[in-house]
Amino acid sequence: DGLNARAVAAGKLYFGSATDNGELSDSAYVAGLSNWADFGQLTPGNALKWDSIEPSRDSFSYANGDTIVDLAAKNGQKLRCHTLVWHNQLPSWLTSGGFDNATLITILKNHITNEVTHYKGKCLHWDVVNEAFEEDGTWRSSVFYNTIGPSFVPIAFAAAAAADPDVKLYYNDYNIENAGGKSTSTQNLVKLVKQYGVKIDGVGLQSHFIVGSTPSQSAQQSNMQAFIDLGVEVAVTELDIRTDTPATSSAVNQQAKDYASTIAACKAVAKCVGVTIWDYTDKYSWIPSVFSGQGSALPWDENLKKKDSIYNAILSAWGPA
Ligand code: G3I
Repeated sequence: DGLNARAVAAGKLYFGSATDNGELSDSAYVAGLSNWADFGQLTPGNALKWDSIEPSRDSFSYANGDTIVDLAAKNGQKLRCHTLVWHNQLPSWLTSGGFDNATLITILKNHITNEVTHYKGKCLHWDVVNEAFEEDGTWRSSVFYNTIGPSFVPIAFAAAAAADPDVKLYYNDYNIENAGGKSTSTQNLVKLVKQYGVKIDGVGLQSHFIVGSTPSQSAQQSNMQAFIDLGVEVAVTELDIRTDTPATSSAVNQQAKDYASTIAACKAVAKCVGVTIWDYTDKYSWIPSVFSGQGSALPWDENLKKKDSIYNAILSAWGPA
């Protein structure tokens, strides 16, 4: 029994966790991560990003990615591959190259073709494009948008589909977990890709939440359904629920409720295929280094000790084993 076993019993493909290469020397951590009953899926947190994979032009470096892919295979875990095209964690040769439209399209296609081909047959999902919008739903300024325009998105999806016709192709973003301008823009992105005659299979709802202010279960469900109505599936891809640290017991109780409402939303929506937390322990969470004074966002604490109230709330939200 465990978080993943319950998700599978509820008809989902997986409950999983992000991980990162630097953590894999921690054997107690790896033992927990490798427990299929809790985690049936891994997402490499950094290893598959552009700066890691193509640090200089047309020179590809797969060692870190392969380490996590091999670990997942050894554990019988599925993989969400993250991410091909993002404005962040880009190598400087790319951001300061001053490439024109045609050259950048060539670079984009070459990167995607190489990386998707390398991992062909290994990934359940690819996050093809990540975080293309600003908070108000306008296109985010990035080297891709600024040089190529909105068509960088269908160009990227087409290149990924050509390299691996079987992997599910996702768009992934945060603050699109309830109705609003950013969610509407994401729905328009799905339509845009389809208007180009290009395949898009899913939308990833990152779900980086703040305790006590997560969208209600019904708001999350109706938002998921708005994507599904466009002919795609959805997944919760980077769930964590942060609080001020040290966490009070009332905050932890609220976190348990908030975790449960996202799990219950995914359970209730047939085309929500699974839930991934953005690492499983506070020991390796990204939050304290970005939001000073906040953290304690995950179901295991900094000593790899399970937080029973949160863990049990997730279990019961999935339902019986
Ligand atoms: O690898 C270098 C290391 O060599 C160096 O000594 C060290 C010093 O700062 O930095 C290390 O790189 C860090 C990298 O994580 C690996 O640990 C970067 O500084 C750090 O910025 C990077 O943070 C990652 C962040 O994305 C970057 O934006 C987080 O680990 C990662 O969890 C986070 O993940 C993102 C998703 O991809 C997209 N959605 C939001 C999510 C959270 O920000």
